[in-house]
Amino acid sequence: MKAVVYTEYGDPEVLRLADIEKPTPKENEVLVKVYATSVTTGDVNLRNFVFVPQGLGFMARLMVGMNKPKKTVLGLEFAGEVVEIGTSVTRFKVGDKVFGLDSKQMGSYAQYKTVAEDVGITTMPANMSYEDAVAIPNGALTALTFLRKLGNIQKGQKVLVYGASGSVGIAGVQIAKALGAVVTGVCSTKNVELVKSAGADKVIDYTQQDFTQNGETYDLILDTVGKAPFAISKKSLAPKGAYLAVAGGVREMRQMMGNAFRGGKKVMAGTSSESQDYLIFIKELVEAGKFRAIVDRCYPLEEIAEAHRHVDSGRKRGNIVISVSH
Ligand SMILES: NC(=O)c1ccc[n+]([C@@H]2O[C@H](COP(=O)([O-])OP(=O)(O)OC[C@H]3O[C@@H](n4cnc5c(N)ncnc54)[C@H](OP(=O)(O)O)[C@@H]3O)[C@@H](O)[C@H]2O)c1
Repeated sequence: MKAVVYTEYGDPEVLRLADIEKPTPKENEVLVKVYATSVTTGDVNLRNFVFVPQGLGFMARLMVGMNKPKKTVLGLEFAGEVVEIGTSVTRFKVGDKVFGLDSKQMGSYAQYKTVAEDVGITTMPANMSYEDAVAIPNGALTALTFLRKLGNIQKGQKVLVYGASGSVGIAGVQIAKALGAVVTGVCSTKNVELVKSAGADKVIDYTQQDFTQNGETYDLILDTVGKAPFAISKKSLAPKGAYLAVAGGVREMRQMMGNAFRGGKKVMAGTSSESQDYLIFIKELVEAGKFRAIVDRCYPLEEIAEAHRHVDSGRKRGNIVISVSH
């Protein structure tokens, strides 16, 4: 099968098309014919540690390969069709259209990939293209993990999403809205309309206004890009508010350990959940019309280096999709 492989860390040019062996599903796995994948910040981190949080570079290398990548096919997100199932699989059948996130095995930059049936995979939302479905899991699962699991979001709360135009940010705006919050998004001028269209009650253009100077306070501040650190954001938090550090590094982990001594305001950091239950929850939001895919650009698999270059810029809007083969 065709796949995009990389055998060394570096610029997008390290990605190259190759013929590799088609995988065979283990007893608890399905084989998915991949029709669409994506370029997430996770993929560019694995390619060249582009957005790895401060202080975590060494640990990241230790996990994924000190001098060269242990796994040579990237691609966290996938959308496609189940074409074979392992002997013990009960949740899926051949012909199911599925989508999901598999950061453990990756391998979606290929015509086929195997996925364990109990990880972040479920059937696609009704009436959705593969290219739209694949743009959902990473941003939505991360935003949901931070807002619900770490932030314990409640109906009626005031939530500020900083970096509201990126993959996690634009998902955060929609999920916070769907969960009944009053949402303020912060982004640059060119993304104001996009963030409004995602449902934000208010949008602050950070090139015109500093949200920490407007006297407003928020129950949750979801900082998706790490550009509004706790030291800056804390005065805009309500007395028992939480700063949710999506791009948090060692500093935020230390701050989190100090939560008990800080008189109410908390810092929460962590990693995104890839639970199937969370993905099903997101799918239901999509089907209820409360969440939509935001696709910035779509590239063919052959132009994946160009797509990586765009993500490296840190300026993508929503998600970057890769069309594999229909
Ligand atoms: N903890 C976890 O488990 C987890 C999971 C997923 C992602 N992450 C991390 O979360 C971060 C965000 O991921 P993502 O995929 O959402 O990123 P992304 O889509 O690449 O974010 C791009 C957006 O960030 C905005 N941005 C850039 N600089 C900004 C600034 N100074 N102020 C406000 N907005 C700014 C840009 O908007 P403008 O052009 O308008 O500025 C752009 O729309 C990454 O560092 C990623 O590694 C962590």
